[in-house]
Amino acid sequence: MNETNTSSRKTTGATHRTDDWQTYPTKILVVLTLFAIYGTYRAFENNWYEVGNLLSPFYSPKLEFSWWKFSPALLILPIPGLFRATCYYYRKAYYRAFFGTPKACAVTGTANPRYTGESSGIWTLQNIHRYAFYMATLVLGVLWWDAFQTLFAAGHFFNFSYFQISVGTIVFFVNVVLLSGYSFGCHACRHLAGGCLDSFSSSGASKTSLSIWERITKLNEKHEMWAWISLFSVMGADVYTTVVARHGIPADPVLFSMDMITNLVAK
Ligand code: FES
Repeated sequence: MNETNTSSRKTTGATHRTDDWQTYPTKILVVLTLFAIYGTYRAFENNWYEVGNLLSPFYSPKLEFSWWKFSPALLILPIPGLFRATCYYYRKAYYRAFFGTPKACAVTGTANPRYTGESSGIWTLQNIHRYAFYMATLVLGVLWWDAFQTLFAAGHFFNFSYFQISVGTIVFFVNVVLLSGYSFGCHACRHLAGGCLDSFSSSGASKTSLSIWERITKLNEKHEMWAWISLFSVMGADVYTTVVARHGIPADPVLFSMDMITNLVAK
């Protein structure tokens, strides 16, 4: 290697890459910053999060205690927040976008002689990701329950005379499906299903385990995609709930209901 190359590689951002590698960390920086601002605002707003059978995913499960005087979202959001903040994919994304360590593959990162990666200090806490996964899975279960509640008119859960499909139903189900794609493609979930084994045997239980592991692997291969679309869907479900809460139930149009069928038959 000649002298010019050696010195240029010591400069932050130095690289021999000729593609547009700067766009990716810039986009991440902008999107994550905007989401953090929106999420923080909504968490503290403590309003417009519940109407009829819709409960914003930012506030679910709704934890209300007499001793807690602040927004209930502040009690629940740390779980999905921790889950995403310690996610292997997001770690790569925000290390590049916010810290420039490194900025991209084959690009010189921000010079810091004390840089030790995730092997010391607060960064070792990233290891709690698997526990964040367990907790986030419980929250996800509640979000599925919330989605099922939208299948019935408010106050008539499991009464099939009040079965309905509204725009909110679609918004909530799309959100939980995307969140599930993200959560179950998690590296910790993959490890749980079979990543901890050296090999699978031919026993029945092992075959089932292999089959689950292969499905999770399929999700895991697209983990980045699931991470982003589920981030937007959870925000979309919150925005939708807020809009309906501000304008009342008619703002959540019912697309199908048992009443419609009854009226149709009566004609
Ligand atoms: S690695 Fe991304 S959610 Fe676990």
